[in-house]
Amino acid sequence: MKGDFLVIEGIDGSGTTTQKKLLCEWLEDREEEVVSTHEPTREEGRIGNIIRNRLVQDKYDYSPETIALAFAADRLAHLEDRIIPALEQGKTVISDRYYHSSMVYQPEHGADIEWVKKINRYARKPDVTIIIDVPAEESIKRQMDRDGGESSIIFENLEFQKGIRKRYVELEEILDENIYIIDGNRSIEEVHKDILEVIKRELKE
Ligand code: ADP
Ligand code: TYD
Repeated sequence: MKGDFLVIEGIDGSGTTTQKKLLCEWLEDREEEVVSTHEPTREEGRIGNIIRNRLVQDKYDYSPETIALAFAADRLAHLEDRIIPALEQGKTVISDRYYHSSMVYQPEHGADIEWVKKINRYARKPDVTIIIDVPAEESIKRQMDRDGGESSIIFENLEFQKGIRKRYVELEEILDENIYIIDGNRSIEEVHKDILEVIKRELKE
């Protein structure tokens, strides 16, 4: 593949949307053609849209295995019709979330991690994966500030986010690929600078 495939991951509120945007702008300033994307996919008619509206919004009423299969199907479709064609044209693709999310969220809900890994085995490895690591308390604070949210679910959510954070950090040992864990508990500019250092080193010429 000619283009670079970059993935940004992290717990909700860790800053993936913010950092993806800054990275895209930096790449575009260098005249790179960038495709900025996201999982679950959002566009009308996509599997990700069904997941968003039916599976996740209904508070995970379905089993974690059913949800894992839906995310995996969304991912392969996303690869086939968006990611791979862009990489073949030499574009840089940046995805906010990828199979790493499935390997932390669905096991945290009870799915077997090895099985989740297996059902994602046809999803090509990213060239670089950045995991933004932020304490659960900080990520919840950021989400509350962003969404002006209610605090009623905060304690339930805190324990869950702590579990997710731990699983993210452990991924580095489980997956044989190019993963960088970046300390996200600093200013937006400092985190961006660290991400750039990785990207400058890793981008294909
Ligand atoms: P995510 O996409 O991971 O859920 P966002 O990028 O939407 O997270 O960030 C969540 C909120 O936190 C936003 O309001 C954003 O402006 C803010 N934020 C992002 N990064 C930082 C940071 N390093 N320090 C403080 N606030 C941040
Ligand atoms: P996301 O769209 O990033 O959240 P939002 O747009 O609401 O900020 O993701 C929705 C949720 O889906 C998020 O909590 C992570 C979860 N998720 C999984 O559980 N498994 C997956 O494979 C993916 C891609 C996301």
